[in-house]
Amino acid sequence: PRGAGIGASGELTIQGISVHELADRFGTPLFVYDEDEVRARIDELRSGLGALQVTYASKAFSAVAMARIVADTGLWWDAASAGELEAARRGGVPAERIVLHGNNKGVDELLLADEVGVGRIVVDAHEELERIARLGLGRRRLWLRVVPGIEAHTHAFVRTGQVDSKFGLQLDDGSAERALTWARAHGLTVVGIHAHIGSQIFDLDPFGELAGRMGAVREAWGVDEVSLGGGIGVPYVRDERAPTLEEWGRSIAEATTLAGMDPERTFVEPGRALVAPAAITLYRVGVVKRIPGVRTYVAVDGGMSDNPRPVLYGSGYEAVAAGRLEAPHTTAMRVVGKHCESGDVLVANALLPEDLAAGELIVTPVTGAYGYSMGSNYNRLPRPSVVMVRDGVAREIVRREQLDDLFRLEVGS
Ligand code: LLP
Repeated sequence: PRGAGIGASGELTIQGISVHELADRFGTPLFVYDEDEVRARIDELRSGLGALQVTYASKAFSAVAMARIVADTGLWWDAASAGELEAARRGGVPAERIVLHGNNKGVDELLLADEVGVGRIVVDAHEELERIARLGLGRRRLWLRVVPGIEAHTHAFVRTGQVDSKFGLQLDDGSAERALTWARAHGLTVVGIHAHIGSQIFDLDPFGELAGRMGAVREAWGVDEVSLGGGIGVPYVRDERAPTLEEWGRSIAEATTLAGMDPERTFVEPGRALVAPAAITLYRVGVVKRIPGVRTYVAVDGGMSDNPRPVLYGSGYEAVAAGRLEAPHTTAMRVVGKHCESGDVLVANALLPEDLAAGELIVTPVTGAYGYSMGSNYNRLPRPSVVMVRDGVAREIVRREQLDDLFRLEVGS
């Protein structure tokens, strides 16, 4: 994160706070968010976007403390479930700035959304329109999620804009238009359209193309609001390059203006880009296993339960010896977790100090998105605690799970 620095004993600091102090106070594994950076990233994107609206896709990291930042900065909040909706409510996000998503919302979720008074419900399928009508939610403002038929070059699991997708209403075969007609005939309030072409996209062009396509649909349908979804990519490792958030913003603002959209009624919906680079995960090394001529394994006290992305997507990360940043990081090692599977890898090819030893701290940067939120209790590991640092002060925003928490729901335990 930007608040990173070097302390008196050569260790990593976050806004001047030593990782040794963080580990002592809060334990490891530990997620450490630089809150000032989260806020700075929001500002940067907005300075490029001008009057466009920003919806934070909370699936990236949906802590209540994050919802408070969203409330405070005037962003909207994308909730894809009752849980994410509840996080927004508890964090004080005004209901009218909550957008309910999901390709199969439950009746309970729709009713909660109505009760809370969410600002928009994004309809993903015809059955959902019927459900909304049947439940009497016709006065809620709806967006129809359409499949724009745009392929972004990213991992197949997070690609969503192509025709072969479980998400959204197809434009090509007319089902989106039929849904619109049905909605209008049944007194539902369709005020906009939504599309999401994928995640971790590095290229500005697909968004330009998307803006053109959505501009045409908006005009044809006579609706005012357009959301272009999320997907702004961030570099995870040194040689990756992405446009800056301001560049993203400017490019999207230009493309949507060109497509005739009203900026104040045009939305982008990033998750990852606002939070991923603003956090690190701090681990303690427990075992260093050197297999001569083969490989060195560095086992830490977390793993796929706090960061499943390497296992799920083969995502690349880096690791640094947080206690001694200036030691030469030149020896290839594999950073692994403590779970009972060989696939439990955090960093497949990390460069670390040759004499790395048990007891040292290591850090993986860029873990602020889809880490904690996709974490699990596999092997009954308790979830780590999460700390936010603001103005040089660290505070715990999510406590570490304790053994008792793991058994709270087990009947008769
Ligand atoms: N809007 C919708 C409707 C989405 O489905 C998503 C992400 C976003 C916005 C935010 O996308 P972002 O700006 O964060 O790329 N777990 C995967 C990413 C899955 C993204 C799912 N949808 C990962 O760790 O890479």
